[in-house]
Amino acid sequence: MSSQKRVFSGIQPSGNLHLGNYIGAISQWVNMQDQYDCFFCIVDLHAITVSQDPQKLLAKIKELAALYLACGLDPKKSTIFVQSHNPDHASLTWILDCLTSMGQLERMTQYKTKSDQAGASVGLFNYPILMAADILLYQTDLVPVGQDQKQHVELTRDLAQKFNSCFGPVFKIPKPKMLSVGAKIMSLQNPKQKMSKSSLDKRGTIDLLDSPQTIKNKIMAAVTDSGQEIIASPNKPGISNLLAIYSITTGLEINQIEKRYQDKNYGQFKSDLAQEVVKFLTPIQDRYRTICQNQKGLAKILTEGKQKAKEVSQKTLDQVYQKTGLR
Ligand code: TYM
Repeated sequence: MSSQKRVFSGIQPSGNLHLGNYIGAISQWVNMQDQYDCFFCIVDLHAITVSQDPQKLLAKIKELAALYLACGLDPKKSTIFVQSHNPDHASLTWILDCLTSMGQLERMTQYKTKSDQAGASVGLFNYPILMAADILLYQTDLVPVGQDQKQHVELTRDLAQKFNSCFGPVFKIPKPKMLSVGAKIMSLQNPKQKMSKSSLDKRGTIDLLDSPQTIKNKIMAAVTDSGQEIIASPNKPGISNLLAIYSITTGLEINQIEKRYQDKNYGQFKSDLAQEVVKFLTPIQDRYRTICQNQKGLAKILTEGKQKAKEVSQKTLDQVYQKTGLR
């Protein structure tokens, strides 16, 4: 058995993968592959908590799998799989459902925001429990995510503790892992709002597959703050956000970038940032196109991933069934 600590995380195959997803989640994943036993999931069951076009959903699942690889996830190091290919996720969800109070779910910020739309589904309400099942099935130590998922990981910890104290120890208690810079990348058009797949103003979001020209246009049109100084500060949310993007895409520390732009203006900074982002995304886009040409290879990676995932999850689920009196 591996003595490495276990990592689990996932992204929904809904909308377009954007720079916020890359920075908050995937950049951490890529760096964790050598040190940890990693499971990275395409969480398609989460995507159907809101209405999806079936054909588009299937295409998005494949697109996201190809993007995982293009961003640097390596199937030789990490287990990459699709959530619905392993039925254990849905099975554990039901058991955890029966352990969770309505009040616990009603407190979830993301549900409160998303359920404003008429006709919100039971699935949308239940979503954090499916996420808890994802994490707990793999006896996860660390969950690398963006800031917006922290509350869901905390609920996961509460549910694991509740199960263990009611039925005896089965689950590891996972911890969220977030970047100190980049855990919440904001919209380029509204630095008070998170960069989001579902955002209506597309100019605020840089998608990983955006063309170089689109990236340049979006960055040059990014909302900035009053004043001229290029420094990270709570009263400069626009510039602080651009600095975080600059830092992740170049590997430079924020204070190094601040020094570099001491005597420069916003226009110069944005134009350089646009170039850096294009330079960063171009190889990812090239790899993505190559990977897409080999759909068979991609399917094979996901099948092998499913098998490896199932081997681990099955053991946890068996224990859960035994402890709860179902076996
Ligand atoms: P999702 O698909 O909305 O987002 C995927 C990941 O990207 C992070 N993220 C961001 N990070 C920084 N800045 C942003 N603007 C930004 N927007 C999104 C998210 O925090 C997330 O890490 N429920 C999850 C998916 C999920 C999951 C899991 C994650 C399902 N099961 C188990 C971890 C473990 C979600 O909807 O993420």
